[in-house]
Order: sequence, then structure tokens, then C-alpha cells
Amino acid sequence: MRVLVVGASGAIGRRLVPQLIDHDHEVIGTFRSAGGAEQVRALGAKPAALDALDARAVRSVVLETAPEAIIHQATALTHMRFSRSLDRTFAATNRLRSEGTDALLAAAREAGVRRFVAQSFASYRYERTGSMVKTEDDPLDPAPPPTARETNAAMRHLDEAVTGAGGVALRYGGFYGASDDALVGLVRRRFYPVVGDGAGVMSFIHLDDAAAATVLALQHEGPGLYNIVDDEPAPMREWLPELARIVGAKPPRHFPDWIAKVVAGDGMVVMATQSRGASNARAKAELGWTPRYPSWREGFRAAYGRPADSAVTART
Ligand SMILES: NC(=O)c1ccc[n+]([C@@H]2O[C@H](COP(=O)([O-])OP(=O)(O)OC[C@H]3O[C@@H](n4cnc5c(N)ncnc54)[C@H](OP(=O)(O)O)[C@@H]3O)[C@@H](O)[C@H]2O)c1
Repeated sequence: MRVLVVGASGAIGRRLVPQLIDHDHEVIGTFRSAGGAEQVRALGAKPAALDALDARAVRSVVLETAPEAIIHQATALTHMRFSRSLDRTFAATNRLRSEGTDALLAAAREAGVRRFVAQSFASYRYERTGSMVKTEDDPLDPAPPPTARETNAAMRHLDEAVTGAGGVALRYGGFYGASDDALVGLVRRRFYPVVGDGAGVMSFIHLDDAAAATVLALQHEGPGLYNIVDDEPAPMREWLPELARIVGAKPPRHFPDWIAKVVAGDGMVVMATQSRGASNARAKAELGWTPRYPSWREGFRAAYGRPADSAVTART
């Protein structure tokens, strides 16, 4: 297929483009920042500059490149500035998930694009009652913290707009595997504490596994909604100390809820103490996908471990 990857130069785009080419797809990859064209070309795709928030530019790139499929992976997380409000931190990404998605869907409709796959998110979104692990059929959080309402609404918009148009929304777990992962930097410096009882559950996914699931989703008739997460949703009090150990950092600090709320905002406290993880059963059954790193434990070791840890991984 001729595939337009929007956000080909990003963390997942860089893993996705080579896997698409390996599966005999012809790829056009968009970038926005200077230097992106060379980066996309080096991955084996034809580069195209695009600001997905410019609906006219979206229309012309889609009509000119005439893809059979579009994969929307544009986010703006690399240079985000920390704020106690998640909505402020994610403002640009929220626009890409709402306005950017709408512009791409409108252009796709006009150009007769057959397949549409887009990046959504699984963690921190499901209702914070009942079981600690949720399926795609479970309700989303009806009352997100006030500072995360726009962020949740943007993801909900993307899910509904994409599936409403017959496409596939992939609710990825928290990405890891990039050498410059911001989370790992924070853990190394002990800037990422366990908050309260650390009972909030997180679902992770290695970037290579996320890319592999995306290639499979492209072959899937929509509409579809899939959690693309590993097999082991885990509470913060478990995964965070283990990540610190793997990267050779001192154990994380512990902050009571009220201090974390003052320092990092209510959204962070809710994530750390109440959030639910996600089940990948549907993606495995319907996409025929099997993660290469079924657990973040082995994935973290492979991505960030010291040689001794990696040797343990290889033996187990
Ligand atoms: N995606 C997630 O849900 C998530 C969640 C938490 C943490 N992280 C971490 O955040 C880091 C960066 O993540 P990322 O790759 O998702 O973000 P990113 O590198 O900021 O951007 C992803 C892609 O979107 C493109 N893009 C940005 N603004 C655009 C616009 N207005 N129009 C069209 N394209 C645009 C980027 O182009 P340029 O490269 O040319 O700017 C890039 O190709 C990684 O370390 C990741 O692990 C990601």
C-alpha cells in the first residue's frame, strides 16, 4: 500500500517507517522541524513537510501524495514544558489530536483514502472504579481531574472521530525504548517519586511492539479500537523502583499525596494513585499481534539495562 505516515520523524514514526517498508509498503513520511526531511529519507520514506494544524496544507499534501492509507502519529511531546496542569503541558498535542485529526479525516475522505489509523492513548484514561485492568469496552473516566479535562476530551475526540469514519484508533500504552526517553532521565536524577501508595496502574509498550501492532492494524478493516499495551499492567510502586534499579539509579523518593499535589498538580496524583491499566486481549485476538516484550520488566532491561541485566534477559 501507499502509506502516508504523519509524524514519521517522531519516536514511534522512526520505528514504524522501516517496519512498513519491510512489509512492502511504499511510505511518504511527514515531518515539521528542520532536519526532518533528511531523517525521513534516511528511514527509506519520501519526505513531505507538513503542519497538521494547517488544514489547507493537510489537504494539499494528501491530495498530492494520493495515499491508500494514512497513519496519524503526530504529537508534540518532545519539547513540552512541564506544568502542574496536564492540559497546559499537552496543549499542542491536544490540538493535533482534535483539529489535526479532523483535518486529516476530511482530506482522507476527499482523496478516497481506504485506511486510516491514528495514535490514541490507553493509560490514565479509563474509569477509576472497579477492576484495575480495563478493556476497550469499559467506560472512560467520566470525571477526569480538572487540569486534565481538555487532554482527556482530545483523546476521546480522536477515538470517536476516527472510528466514526471507519478507521482504527490505537490506544498505546506509555511508550518506552527511546534512548533519550524523558522518563528515564527523570528517574536517573531521582526527580520522579512514588506518590502516595503508588497504587495507580500503568500499561507500557515498547516502541518496536507499538510499531508492529500498527503495521498489523493497517491490514485490518475498520472501525476498530485497540489497547496496544504489554501483558503486565503494573502499579507505580512496582514499576518505578524496578526501572530505577535497571538504570542504575538510587531508589525513587516517596512523596505523600498532598506534597505531590502542590508540586506536580492533581492530575499527577490521580495518575499515581488511582489510574487503571489496559488489557491487550482484543488486539492479540483480532490483529494477530504478539508483543516481543510481553512485560515492561524485560523491555526496560533490554532498552536501558546495564550489560549484566541484559545478559540476564537473554538467558531467561
Ligand atoms: N506519544 C505519547 O503518547 C507519549 C507519551 C508520553 C511520553 N512520550 C515521549 O515523548 C517523546 C517524544 O514523543 P513523540 O515522538 O510522540 O513526539 P514528537 O517527537 O514531539 O513528535 C512526533 C511527530 O509529530 C510531528 N509533529 C509535531 N508537531 C506537528 C505538527 N504541528 N504537524 C505535523 N506533525 C507534527 C513531529 O515532527 P518533527 O519531529 O519534525 O517535529 C514528529 O514527527 C518520546 O520520548 C516519547 O516516549 C510520548
